[in-house]
Amino acid sequence: MLTLILAAGQGKRMHSQRPKVLQPLAGKPLICHLLDRLAHWPGRLALVYGHGGDLLKAELAPRYPELQWIEQAEALGTGHAVAQALPFIQPEETVLVLYGDTTQIARRTLEALLARAEQNDLTLLSAWLANPHGYGRILRNASGQIQAIVEERDATPEQRLIQEIHTGVLAARGAVLHKLLPRLNNHNPAGEFYLTDLVALAGAEGLRVEALPLEDSDEMQGVNDRRQLAALEAFLRRQAAEALLDQGVTLVDPARIDVQGPLTVGRDVYLEPNIMFKGQNVLGDGVRIESNCVLENCHIGAGTVILSHSRLEGVQVGADCHIGPFARLRPQTILADGVKVGNFVELKASEIKSGTKINHLSYIGDSNVGVGVNIGAGTITCNYDGANKFKTVIGDNVFIGSNSALVAPLNIGSDATVGAGSVIRKDVKNQSLVLTVGERREKENWPRPVKKK
Ligand code: UD1
Ligand code: CA
Repeated sequence: MLTLILAAGQGKRMHSQRPKVLQPLAGKPLICHLLDRLAHWPGRLALVYGHGGDLLKAELAPRYPELQWIEQAEALGTGHAVAQALPFIQPEETVLVLYGDTTQIARRTLEALLARAEQNDLTLLSAWLANPHGYGRILRNASGQIQAIVEERDATPEQRLIQEIHTGVLAARGAVLHKLLPRLNNHNPAGEFYLTDLVALAGAEGLRVEALPLEDSDEMQGVNDRRQLAALEAFLRRQAAEALLDQGVTLVDPARIDVQGPLTVGRDVYLEPNIMFKGQNVLGDGVRIESNCVLENCHIGAGTVILSHSRLEGVQVGADCHIGPFARLRPQTILADGVKVGNFVELKASEIKSGTKINHLSYIGDSNVGVGVNIGAGTITCNYDGANKFKTVIGDNVFIGSNSALVAPLNIGSDATVGAGSVIRKDVKNQSLVLTVGERREKENWPRPVKKK
């Protein structure tokens, strides 16, 4: 079997430089939704490409090494696209044709179609739509036999009333394609070689053509323009929200949550509106996240609370931590249990041990911070000298006074205290108090300057 995905069209209706099938949908390129569903699919898998081929190959070839690439130099129509694959099609094999812009077809639907295809020469996947606008209509004769497919733009007003449409998915015997594809013409207003004209040709040859109706018409939602892309995005968003509800998550507003990628949840997770999950995330039992947070590839331990407007990327958070509001946790940050990270704190590539507090306005980068440390407001690790990055190590139970600059490389021993407003350039011993603030000077009864007349 050969499965052929057509993706050479320009996607003119998207008004974009990018090929249509690479437009982002729910966190990944449109066509990846289809290709990912076809993982370990039997037979060979080939992509017919044309428009934006270099970009397509750059993005897809590394992700799908098994994909065969077939070029359609000019997008002359879907029939012409399949004809480009003829040199690779055996007469006795089944060819499954999919459209790269129709990405929601379920595997079991394709399996059912292929099972029917064994009895036929040509098997289509049809659907009944309340609003069939834009799709090819299926024409049947009085005895219900399929006669032809007529495209929307070529259909008469009466034909446009037909609600049975072609989803774009079809299965054909290789020999049928070898015989009929060369007979297609482009004598239609679009000047294209329509794959759908195979139906009329097959009928005229007395071949067996069948249309299998799709049970769930949601599967055939295609993307031809930005409106349909947005509609599909909204559909997938709702689907993901419903899956979370089914798993027992509280969504304050299921319409306002974006889950772009796998999200694993424990019990009693509570999510406020406008949270975005990107990549793979895991939330433990009882995690609470307030509005307007973004989590990308994070693992959040049970009982942790993330307050609004926080952004976490590539972060491992322990249990019962308290983060935000307005916290920024950057990749390779690891928080142990019970850590507090408050407002306007940025952490990068740092490990923070349990019970440590970094409550306000700090930057901690490339650091290792011990247990039970208190980092005062406005503490900055100066980890970069303009050329290289250096590490800061802070021992257990250290107290860093507010507004201190810790110039790395630096080692602050456990139980040490840094006085507020210090600039620490050299290592600090265990239990020491260090301060670098100058002597206080005071001039009593000092006359303030007065404005000259
Ligand atoms: C097509 C069908 C229509 C069906 C609808 C379902 C035809 C003639 N019409 O219409 O009956 O109801 O899909 O979604 O097939 N492509 C190529 N090379 C080309 C032209 C297109 O590879 O020369 C690819 C496109 O990239 C796209 C797919 O084929 O992924 C479908 O093409 P599109 O122009 O979107 O066809 P529709 O007008 O949607
Ligand atoms: Ca289409």
